[in-house]
Amino acid sequence: MTPLDFEGDYGRAYNGRIRLMIPGYDAIQEIGAAALAARLPQARRALVVGVGSGLELPGLLEALPQAQFTLVEPSTQMRQLCDGLIADIGANGRVQWGPPQLPTAGPLGGSGFDAVICHNVLHVLEPAAQRPLLDQLGTQVSPGGALLLSSYSEPEGEPMEPWLQLAAARFRALGMDGPAVEAVMASRNTAVFSLDPLLLERRLLAGGLEAPTQLMQAACFRLWISGRPTEGQAPAAPASAAAAITQLRAVVAQLRDPQGGCPWDLEQTHASLVPYVLEEAHEVADAIHHGDDRHLAEELGDLLLQVVLHAQIGSETGRFNLGQIAAGISAKLIRRHPHVFAGAEAADSAAVKASWEAIKAQERAEREGGAASSSPLSDRLAGKVRGQPALAGAMTISKKAAAAGFEWDAMAGVWEKVHEELDELKQAVASGDRAHAEAELGDLLFTLVNVARWCDLDPETGLAGTNRRFLDRFSRVEAALGGDLQGRSIAELEGLWRQAKAQIRAEVSGQPPGPQSSAG
Ligand SMILES: C[S@@+](CC[C@H](N)C(=O)[O-])C[C@H]1O[C@@H](n2cnc3c(N)ncnc32)[C@H](O)[C@@H]1O
Repeated sequence: MTPLDFEGDYGRAYNGRIRLMIPGYDAIQEIGAAALAARLPQARRALVVGVGSGLELPGLLEALPQAQFTLVEPSTQMRQLCDGLIADIGANGRVQWGPPQLPTAGPLGGSGFDAVICHNVLHVLEPAAQRPLLDQLGTQVSPGGALLLSSYSEPEGEPMEPWLQLAAARFRALGMDGPAVEAVMASRNTAVFSLDPLLLERRLLAGGLEAPTQLMQAACFRLWISGRPTEGQAPAAPASAAAAITQLRAVVAQLRDPQGGCPWDLEQTHASLVPYVLEEAHEVADAIHHGDDRHLAEELGDLLLQVVLHAQIGSETGRFNLGQIAAGISAKLIRRHPHVFAGAEAADSAAVKASWEAIKAQERAEREGGAASSSPLSDRLAGKVRGQPALAGAMTISKKAAAAGFEWDAMAGVWEKVHEELDELKQAVASGDRAHAEAELGDLLFTLVNVARWCDLDPETGLAGTNRRFLDRFSRVEAALGGDLQGRSIAELEGLWRQAKAQIRAEVSGQPPGPQSSAG
């Protein structure tokens, strides 16, 4: 890619052409200046980086009437053009030239600026050079100050064609001839680079600034504002759900950044994260059981992190990204709810379920090219339980198999099976064959799940309740021994266990524990 020649023809023709080359150029400058005026009316120190010929200066001088401006610009030709403009508007007393480039570390002149402005510079630099400039820009912003930034920006996975067509239409309306419009369109990603909004957000967050808010978009040009929180204050929370999701993506992308990311996050793979996604899903279920909204919201956040982390890992090798995940599930929901999105009828939830299953079967048939399976129910069940915890999977299989007619005549048959499986487990354990014992344990649990189904009980809820009750009693035993169980006899532990049980029973009934109950 040939860099834009600010010292040569491109720079010389800049003032005459730039409004035509950047759709919404004036609006970007006006809205940016208005945002600064609203946010920092008392600003004293402002820094304009890559000021070029200075076209943004008149608006900024007006927006921040008390500010002294420092200008940074590497090109001699652009500085000369800017000097001409400063003289024309009589602003010599309010502006001074800084160095041609920002220092690599620390704020310019040792202290930060209330307002830092960088219009249309980052897309001139290749992505590797954008990162240090973003970091340097952030460093210049003093606590309570703001950063205003605009750039050509194509976010990952966002189709740009409609925006480019709009831009082309505007250029034609402004009188640009056909070949010139074509040339501008072709210069996309050849004469300029794109600033990835996620990179912008990541670097600002890493530099302690708040997540940037996009103030406007004109075709593929975007304008953002961000700020450094006043000392002791937390960064402002994102203003919308979409902005909060973008921030989360940026935080996760930063954690996975080989340069300065987190070693633990960088080590993770889809497979290594499996235990965490299961654990977080269970913690969500637990928070729901406890009916605690604050806890539920927190656990849902942990689960959401898993989705975003998998999306980040997928996007690093170009396989899939969060946009595709979200678009995929939206499309599926629309397809599977024709009674909501396509004028179909569904009188009740049973009809909805039947329609959902029918659409799902049709989708599967289309995917598999219409080849009929010789074991359709088991194929479906195998696919369904693959992602379920084993206990839930056993319940799914036993329900579906029973519905298909594979069922005992009476409950007595189920009990008989429980005893048979229990005996087999005892024998297998006695034999010392671990694999066999594990298989028999599974058979017994599967049969107990059938007991639960026959009695309309939920095994998961039952087992979770037992876990809770055990821990409640166990914590009392521990507390009675000052938190240390080491060296205690089993008789002593059992005695305390019974006492704990009686105590809990008394608390539930409201009666003090009696002599019999403590022995029970
Ligand atoms: C497209 S012009 C934008 C000028 C002006 N801000 C505007 O919006 O009209 C980009 C300017 O950034 C300057 N520039 C290039 N690299 C820079 C860097 N690393 N730091 C600061 N400015 C840079 C160029 O010399 C050029 O004047």
